[in-house]
Amino acid sequence: MQQTILIIDFGSQVTQLIARRLREIGVYTEILPSTADQAAAVAQKPAGIILSGGPNSVTAANTPRADDAVFSSNVPVLGICYGQQTMVAQLGGTVEAGNSREFGRADVTITSSSPLFGDEWQKDSVKSVWMSHGDHVSDLPDGFSVIASSPGAPFAVIANEDRRYYGVQFHPEVVHTDGGVDLLRNFARNICQLDATWSMAAYREQAVAAIREQVGPEGRVICGLSGGVDSSVAAILIHEAIGERLTCVFVDHGLLRKGEADEVVNLFGRHYNIPLIHADASEMFLSRLEGVSDPEQKRKIIGGAFIEVFDAESAKIENATFLAQGTLYPDVIESISAAGGNHVTIKSHHNVGGLPDDMALELVEPLRMLFKDEVRELGRECGLPETLVGRHPFPGPGLAIRVPGEITKEKLDILREADAVYLDEIRKHGLYDEIWQAFAVLLPVKTVGVMGDARSYEYVCALRAVTSTDGMTADVYPFEASFLTRVATRIVNEVKGVNRITYDITSKPPGTIEWE
Ligand code: XMP
Repeated sequence: MQQTILIIDFGSQVTQLIARRLREIGVYTEILPSTADQAAAVAQKPAGIILSGGPNSVTAANTPRADDAVFSSNVPVLGICYGQQTMVAQLGGTVEAGNSREFGRADVTITSSSPLFGDEWQKDSVKSVWMSHGDHVSDLPDGFSVIASSPGAPFAVIANEDRRYYGVQFHPEVVHTDGGVDLLRNFARNICQLDATWSMAAYREQAVAAIREQVGPEGRVICGLSGGVDSSVAAILIHEAIGERLTCVFVDHGLLRKGEADEVVNLFGRHYNIPLIHADASEMFLSRLEGVSDPEQKRKIIGGAFIEVFDAESAKIENATFLAQGTLYPDVIESISAAGGNHVTIKSHHNVGGLPDDMALELVEPLRMLFKDEVRELGRECGLPETLVGRHPFPGPGLAIRVPGEITKEKLDILREADAVYLDEIRKHGLYDEIWQAFAVLLPVKTVGVMGDARSYEYVCALRAVTSTDGMTADVYPFEASFLTRVATRIVNEVKGVNRITYDITSKPPGTIEWE
């Protein structure tokens, strides 16, 4: 079995970062909400356990605790912030509710050497760390000593070297902690004795073997392709595992960007030779969207029609018993947390959703242990083209929500051309990978212009480009003015139907990334 560090999550906003930092250095980790069955997870013999931070106070009644199994299993433990405090309280020390809270940067002085510090955190040196706590440790359990301290946190790092228990008051997983990843690496390598064996090459082999085992020698799988990264990587892995017994279904709703539908058909159908059903349903989608301008109504119509077409096409595939999904690890963690309690049922994310019950398809989810950046890396490992693997996120309802108001084929065609020119310039200037999402929006407004000697009366096109790490908040991308004027000139000259360009300079919040 994969050697694992188990992270018990007490609800910190940054728990996922602990897992990501460790995976980035080749150590496999899994996150378990503290409300789930901790004892069962500890019984799986992880190589180490990390207790995360959390919003609660261990001084209050009924706040979460580490299960006793954590401390009776002879496994190394690292407690971070709340995790440190609960470890101290549970092992006989004292935690006090703070009357002064400490947030932000603090200077920590290292007072002893330790395998946790390795060579990177030298005795007597000072490290700048990120603190975020109200409570603090005031008395240590037997066997513990202080190995680093700061003016606001005398117990900044504590250790019981014999039992291999460590506690840090700050957050080593955030980038604001200088050399924080060294502590996580040292915990994994020096203390838990783990090798760096987690890589996408290793994962690919494991995943292919797991798919073969789940699907068996006869099983047939259906996979919905959207042109996005997740479904593409899932399809490639499954194809590698079971070859022709995979059929992909590509529902073309006519709301994709320029050239995208052809790319999907060429890459999967021709290049990889995967059995592919290309359901061109663009006319049906357009006719159902006729006269509709409310954004939520558009989403509902598109979602409903999508399921209808997908179901009808899938029903034509004989003897299929499995449905592939591009579910990712953050969805899995979220669904376990949302379910809460010890009886966790992981909800299946029906990205395509709504298949008739009598099809009774079992889910194949080869990406369910991966973060998004790992999926991209896996895609590269499998040889998918960079243009697909590094592609900006694209919403399910596609261009329908980039044509505010009523949608027509004419408007979609104009938008596709303008968007293609904009992205072409972004790529040519080497800016694509610096931007989270960039796209054009066709406004339902016509304005007057002058082209040649004639008056024009055409649509306005808005350009949007934002930076973001998760799409929850976003900043406007600060293009040079000369770049924007060049794009504007090209679009107005090359795209019939547009005579004016604006650049959207709204951040999120208060704006959203999409216009609808
Ligand atoms: P907003 O516009 O809410 O977008 O700031 C945040 C992120 O979500 C994407 N988005 C969608 N994705 N279906 C999707 O699959 C949708 O209806 C949808 N609406 C927004 C958006 O592109 C951005 O990445």
